[in-house]
Amino acid sequence: MTEHSHDRHAKRQPFGQFPRIRLRRTRQEDWSRRLVAENALTVNDLIWPVFVKEGGPAREAVPSMPGVDRLTIPALLKAAEKAAKLGIPALALFPVVPREKKSAGAEEAFRADNLCNRAVKALKKAVPEIGVICDVALDPYTDHGHDGLMQNDVILNDETIAVLIRQTLAQAEAGVDIAAPSDMMDGRIGRIRDALDAAGFERVKIMSYAAKYASGFYGPFRDAVGSKSSLGKGDKRTYQMDSGNGDEAVRECALDVAEGADMLMVKPGLPYLDIVWRVKEAFKLPTFAYQVSGEYAMIKAAAQNGWLDNDRVVMESLLCFKRAGADGILTYSAIEVAEKLAKA
Ligand code: PBG
Repeated sequence: MTEHSHDRHAKRQPFGQFPRIRLRRTRQEDWSRRLVAENALTVNDLIWPVFVKEGGPAREAVPSMPGVDRLTIPALLKAAEKAAKLGIPALALFPVVPREKKSAGAEEAFRADNLCNRAVKALKKAVPEIGVICDVALDPYTDHGHDGLMQNDVILNDETIAVLIRQTLAQAEAGVDIAAPSDMMDGRIGRIRDALDAAGFERVKIMSYAAKYASGFYGPFRDAVGSKSSLGKGDKRTYQMDSGNGDEAVRECALDVAEGADMLMVKPGLPYLDIVWRVKEAFKLPTFAYQVSGEYAMIKAAAQNGWLDNDRVVMESLLCFKRAGADGILTYSAIEVAEKLAKA
């Protein structure tokens, strides 16, 4: 190199004048963005929550959840077949229980041929390749809409667990793959695990709604299953968690892990991604998040008004769950998302 050319070089690139590190470099082309992508959403990450109802029209719209219908069992079987074809690994069943079957003792919860158990049986027969998850909680069956038995306005913990055990055993008899206790009673995971094992259902998995918050985002769900009118002005703050608490969520999960939970869930989703992250970091268990009815309703309402781009924000929100460490997401958008992923 001559002295002359060296001078010119120095003039053109005076040291320190340019950013050496340009994070924009890898963002320039589509291929490059794909190459450096840290997280991806696939159909294997999706769990589809579905509402099942007794007779009447095959589908019945839920007004506060545009695009979501309550389905009769025959309609559910068709929908499940579609979900399985799309590659969705599992669905979560939520029965809409007629008012006359609700009672203080929630006896309907453990009837072998209740709506939920008939749906499980029919599903496992017609579409065995899709996993079936059932909520374990008494709210569809109590006349007051709470997840547990109530006496003098107090939700009874241990008495409730005895009923939850009977409910889970009936679901297991019907063929459920995953029991998902969503009731937030203390100590129920261990008791349910013991009862399942003693009855020969050691293969039934438990996905614990481990950190479930007392949330306003469940509103549309309570419309969908008709538990809102029963619950009235009551809330679930004596058993579901306070929104401001994070350490307590880790303690809830630690207990459920010790008691034998196979999988953990955090609920709601987007406002609680820090909890998803902490839980995944702390326990390394398969960790799920529930994008609940209110989150779904917010996106759909804004999209219907033309204020948000539905496809974009649905995919973005689900990818963010993955970034936060979720192994999967329960989302009412599962079918539309699986269809989009199949096209992409
Ligand atoms: C009932 C249950 C609820 C949801 C799932 N299981 C409601 C509640 O706790 O009141 C909420 C789901 C949603 O909002 O999408 N144990």
